[in-house]
Amino acid sequence: MIAIITGATGDIGEEFVKRLVSEVDQVWAVGRSENKLDSLKERYGGKIVPVKADLSEKDDVFALCRKIEEEKPDIRYLVNNAGVAKFGRVSGLSLEEISDMLDINDKAATLLCRACIPFMAEGSYILNIASASAFQPNPYITLYSASKAYLLSFTRSLNVENEGINCTAVCPGWVDTKMLPKNSNGYKVKYPGIVPAARVVDSALKDCRRGKDVSVCSFYYRYMRFLSKVTPHKLVMKIWVGMIRKYI
Ligand SMILES: NC(=O)c1ccc[n+]([C@@H]2O[C@H](COP(=O)([O-])OP(=O)(O)OC[C@H]3O[C@@H](n4cnc5c(N)ncnc54)[C@H](OP(=O)(O)O)[C@@H]3O)[C@@H](O)[C@H]2O)c1
Repeated sequence: MIAIITGATGDIGEEFVKRLVSEVDQVWAVGRSENKLDSLKERYGGKIVPVKADLSEKDDVFALCRKIEEEKPDIRYLVNNAGVAKFGRVSGLSLEEISDMLDINDKAATLLCRACIPFMAEGSYILNIASASAFQPNPYITLYSASKAYLLSFTRSLNVENEGINCTAVCPGWVDTKMLPKNSNGYKVKYPGIVPAARVVDSALKDCRRGKDVSVCSFYYRYMRFLSKVTPHKLVMKIWVGMIRKYI
């Protein structure tokens, strides 16, 4: 029985490794840096199987999908956690940055779900790490937020299509990881309701085992989700832009 975790070398990814390594026979730790993967193996032991793949590269993603098809492992957990965030207006991003972000955040996660599902028995789990930014459009993190909205929608539908496999979209607000810039436009950035990565992962695992299709770890962001459902999104976007204006 195995767990496949993408972005295993990142802050949230490593928290998943820490919790799942004792539950399965192997953790396929997917990452693009050999050094970081080796260090993960040193720290968590022989159950870690480093799988080097750059998820912005179609060839690497297809090779990983083929490896799954050939080895036919019994997959208990698929955690699509790898993600990138390029903030700023879409017109300020290069074509390459846009293409890579959509490939990593959405395309790779989608293809891995497709490749893994045939090898997932009843009672297994797919956790796709989306974001609370999926709940409404967020100008100036437009592309990131839209990529996570795709993942949220995709995961909830997948959960209905695949009885027996619980699919959960994990939607934390700000998480204290290296993904978040400390300063922007000369200001120290404030992140309301920020939580540690460990809390996100504890609550994601608890929620997926309870059969939830969406996991939001803090009361603050559960309340934000409620507000985004009952408030016109034009108004939500106006408030959001007001909050982040000085950082742009
Ligand atoms: N931090 C937040 O506030 C927050 C909030 C909501 C959701 N999330 C989501 O949580 C997930 C994990 O992010 P994090 O906060 O833990 O940040 P992180 O520490 O920067 O982790 C991101 C992970 O993605 C991997 N990755 C990036 N580009 C890749 C590529 N081309 N191929 C393969 N792997 C790649 C990174 O690999 P390297 O180690 O090689 O860089 C790293 O392991 C992401 O999907 C993110 O969108 C984060």
